[in-house]
Amino acid sequence: REIGIKDLFKDSFHIGVAVNAQQVSGKEPKALAVLAEHFNSLSPENGLKWEKVHPKPEEYDFEFGDAYVALGEKMKAFTIGHCLVWHQQTPNWVFEDESGKMLNKEDLISKMEDHIAVVAGRYKGKIDGWDVVNEAFNEDGSFRESKWYNVAGKDFIKAAFRKAHEVDPNAELYYNDYNVWKASKRKGILELAKEMKSEGIRVDAIGMQGHYMLGSPTLEEIEQGIIEIAEAGFKVVITELDVDVLPRPNNAQGADLNINFANSPEYNPFVNGISAEAEAKLAQRYADLFQLFHKHKDKISRVTLWGLHDGRSWLNNFPVRGRTNYPLLFDRDLKLKEGIFEKLREV
Ligand code: G3I
Repeated sequence: REIGIKDLFKDSFHIGVAVNAQQVSGKEPKALAVLAEHFNSLSPENGLKWEKVHPKPEEYDFEFGDAYVALGEKMKAFTIGHCLVWHQQTPNWVFEDESGKMLNKEDLISKMEDHIAVVAGRYKGKIDGWDVVNEAFNEDGSFRESKWYNVAGKDFIKAAFRKAHEVDPNAELYYNDYNVWKASKRKGILELAKEMKSEGIRVDAIGMQGHYMLGSPTLEEIEQGIIEIAEAGFKVVITELDVDVLPRPNNAQGADLNINFANSPEYNPFVNGISAEAEAKLAQRYADLFQLFHKHKDKISRVTLWGLHDGRSWLNNFPVRGRTNYPLLFDRDLKLKEGIFEKLREV
């Protein structure tokens, strides 16, 4: 093949991918070659989250981060940091003092600012854009009642963006969330983003995590989201694109993640390979999505896949464990899915 995925969209937006520790350290065969051929932006899937990079109060672990930015430099990639502040993958000690008592607002925000100063400071000039705050809203547009919000209210979000900008004034700063295609959730997000902008706080783009299924959400719903974000004065980044091809058990069945669904023909139908029918649907879904993104290339600066290949996708274990999913552009042998690529060529 003479061109990669990034070349198909070189006049439109960056094509990114989330990478893990094995991949950035060169321990996964073929991964580095595939990354270089097809992608011009990188995101860290887990390695820069609080629990990984700052596991104990006085202990930072930059092994992943240093290898990650070195790879980004080598690839001349647009390199993303993910994520400075989130309610998940954040140790409990963050919210407590030495005696285990919940911190007050002032102390919690100052701990958060120290974390941002150290992490974003270390990668100043090397990380081009940060997911500053991740998933702070509920589906109805109200604020999620996380420990961050319960202690500090929405000021934790503003303080995080202010600090990130102070530490690295050249980095782009994003607010990132899933289901931004839902009008109710988006309303809350855009209200806050506009409020921050009016207070002089830098917010470059809203990250629409693209965790989609074959049939949902509709293209119209996603498009409405892209248009409204742009109208509100922000760029759009599609931050975590993947397409779940498996049927979802209902909440009651899915609630217990410890149930292993490996042996369920109903919920894990493609153990020995995806059906031709589902594979064709997947290719069409990706074609439709990229067609839509391309149509709005003036509003979108990056499209990032959430994982390099099917074998590494979080969707093998969500919403239930032990399944064989096929949500990405590369199969388990790191072979590009030609059916998808052929369709992307036509976009
Ligand atoms: O590293 C440990 C391993 O040592 C252990 O044996 C194994 C047992 O379960 O767990 C491994 O950690 C897992 C980690 O991924 C690395 O694979 C965690 O259990 C698992 O919870 C963690 O999941 C990550 C998830 O965020 C955490 O919420 C996924 O990889 C990651 O793709 C996912 O990414 C998030 C974005 O950051 C934000 N948006 C949603 C997206 C999908 O959930």
